[in-house]
This record gives sequence, C-alpha cells and structure tokens, in this order.
Amino acid sequence: MKKIIAVDGPAGAGKSTVSKIVAARLGYTYIDTGAMYRAVALKCNEELGIRNEELTEELIVKVASDIDIRLDEAARVFLDGREVTKEIRTPEVSRGASDVAKVGFVRKKLTELQRAMAAQGSVIMDGRDIGTQVLPNADLKIFLTASVEERARRRFEELKSKGFAADFAQIQKEISLRDKQDSEREIAPLAKAEDAVLLDTTHLTIEQVVEEILRLAQA
Ligand code: CDP
Repeated sequence: MKKIIAVDGPAGAGKSTVSKIVAARLGYTYIDTGAMYRAVALKCNEELGIRNEELTEELIVKVASDIDIRLDEAARVFLDGREVTKEIRTPEVSRGASDVAKVGFVRKKLTELQRAMAAQGSVIMDGRDIGTQVLPNADLKIFLTASVEERARRRFEELKSKGFAADFAQIQKEISLRDKQDSEREIAPLAKAEDAVLLDTTHLTIEQVVEEILRLAQA
C-alpha cells in the first residue's frame, strides 16, 4: 500500500473532494495545503484591511512571520486558534491565496509545516507543488485536471451549496487567472511531476476518480 499520496492540479479539478474520500476509505490523514495559503490570505485581509491588489511582499511577509495555522483530523482550519474553515472559501480569499503563494518566505514556512505533518506517513496531501517540491519522494503522485468550463461549473456548484453568491462567468474568469498566475510564478509553480499519473476528470464522476486513485494506491 502506498503510504504517502500527493495530489496536485489546478483550481476546481476535484482534488479536495476526492482526496477526502480516499483518506476516509484508507484511514489516512487528509492534508489540504491550499487551506494553509488561504489562511495566510485571510489574515492579510483581516489585519491590513486592504484590497488584494494593495498587498506587497513586505506586508505579506510581516503577517506570515507571526501566524499559527492548524488543520484538525476533520480538515477544519484554525488561524491563530480561531476556526476559519468557511471564511477561507470566498472568491476574495482564493485570489489572495494565489497572491501570497508567490512569496518565497510564505512557501518555505508552509512547506516545512506540510513536511512535518506528512512525516508519520499514511497521508494524502493536495495542492499545487506537493509532488514536485513538498513531497518529491511520495509513493504515489496524481495530477488531477479537467477542462476550465467543467472546473468553473464545479466551483459554481460548490459555492452555491455553501451559501455564497456565485456568478458562473466571473468564476470561470477567476479560475483562468489563478491557473495562469499559479503556473507562471517563479517559485514552485503548479506543474505535473514527471512521475505523476495524469487523470483528466472532465468526464469522470467523483466515484470513478476515487476508485482509480484507490487502485493505484493498492497497486
Ligand atoms: O480549492 P482550489 O483548488 O481553488 O484552491 P486551493 O487548493 O485551496 O489553493 C488556493 C491557492 O493557494 C492556489 O490558487 C495556489 O495559488 C495556492 N497554493 C499553492 O501555491 N501551493 C499549494 N500547495 C496549495 C495552494
């Protein structure tokens, strides 16, 4: 059985949905690294009270140098001791997460935290750079993708189900922008590791993707 599973891919590819189910079926811990970047962005927004466009690297480093981020076994997210699981899912925080994720100081800090969390094994971790940077020796690497229209549709449904107002065209635009920014940044860009298995989920159900990952994990 593969003990450390890395799942990477662009926004809305279904990483967290399928990773959570795979973790539950295998009795593994699910680690959502995107939630950590989102928590940094939320703290920047709250502490500085400024718009994403006004965030400078200096301000981001200042906020990130004194931050406590924790994930519990139920994948709840805590920022400086306060639960922020729902607050970090807004489109504004998504944009901010992609901005803070460009900063080397933030990446280094979160990468160390992520490695420490994975040290015991029996984990499935999802993000953008897990197979390439955080856990290059993972036993199984998956790169999940889907067409941008399908990913926008999934994010639209997710936001609606969580009670947020959502505009499909706007979401598609934001996802495309974030894909570009995440893939083109200098440090640890979104990329498929050479040894990752590519799964295009555009026409697959959640259960089909879960089954395929479980098969690969047991292979
Ligand atoms: O859920 P979604 O796929 O929209 O995003 P996420 O996984 O929560 O990640 C939010 C943002 O954090 C991404 O757009 C990336 O910019 C950043 N991120 C990253 O740089 N590295 C990771 N390992 C995870 C997320």
